[in-house]
Amino acid sequence: MGLTKYGAFVANMYDPLLAKPLHSIRKRVLLEAKRLGVKSVIDLCCGTGHQLSYFKSGDFQKVVGIDLSPHMVRVAKRKYGVNCSVQNAAQTGFDDNTFDLSMVSFALHEKPFQLARQIVQEAKRITRPNGYFFVVDYVYDDRAKSDGKAVTWFVEFLAGGEHFRNFRKYLKSGGLEELTKGLQRIKDIRFVSGSVALQVFKVEK
Ligand SMILES: C[S@@+](CC[C@H](N)C(=O)[O-])C[C@H]1O[C@@H](n2cnc3c(N)ncnc32)[C@H](O)[C@@H]1O
Repeated sequence: MGLTKYGAFVANMYDPLLAKPLHSIRKRVLLEAKRLGVKSVIDLCCGTGHQLSYFKSGDFQKVVGIDLSPHMVRVAKRKYGVNCSVQNAAQTGFDDNTFDLSMVSFALHEKPFQLARQIVQEAKRITRPNGYFFVVDYVYDDRAKSDGKAVTWFVEFLAGGEHFRNFRKYLKSGGLEELTKGLQRIKDIRFVSGSVALQVFKVEK
């Protein structure tokens, strides 16, 4: 199902290690959501809820997250007091067209590719027509410089095991370009020397 090693240890170490390096990306996600005037947001595979904590500071009516790991969800609730539940992002319990914005960050690359595809389809299903879908993930294309690719590749290498195998398959299978084929991309903002993208899609149905 894609839940590999998000136990209590990783859940407790995740933000102390990554919150600072990810701050500018989280902030930009919030800014883009505000610019688009969205009012309801779901973060699929929300992990510790760090991105959700940024949305809490904005003028949103509904901000929710789901994650398959009870340990990550526990941290999200305890640390940030966010609305977060244990659910599979490939098959959520939400009705069609529920949210103005659905998003997934740093999660697609580490899943079996077929599961990543299902998560993108699920995001589309629960987003309203003319709503938005944000993805934050690795993109190794012409805009990605070698230093950025080296750093991000090394981070994934350290994650190891199934995570790293899935990451390599993600790159080999065409990554975000392949997973978001057919969706209308309206923005592609880069970080980490171009190797990490925040891509904004308009959801047309
Ligand atoms: C690398 S973390 C990313 C967390 C967060 N989105 C972020 O930006 O930091 C990947 C997350 O995906 C979750 N996950 C794995 N398979 C999932 C699934 N099928 N449905 C929902 N969450 C899943 C893991 O539990 C983990 O919290």
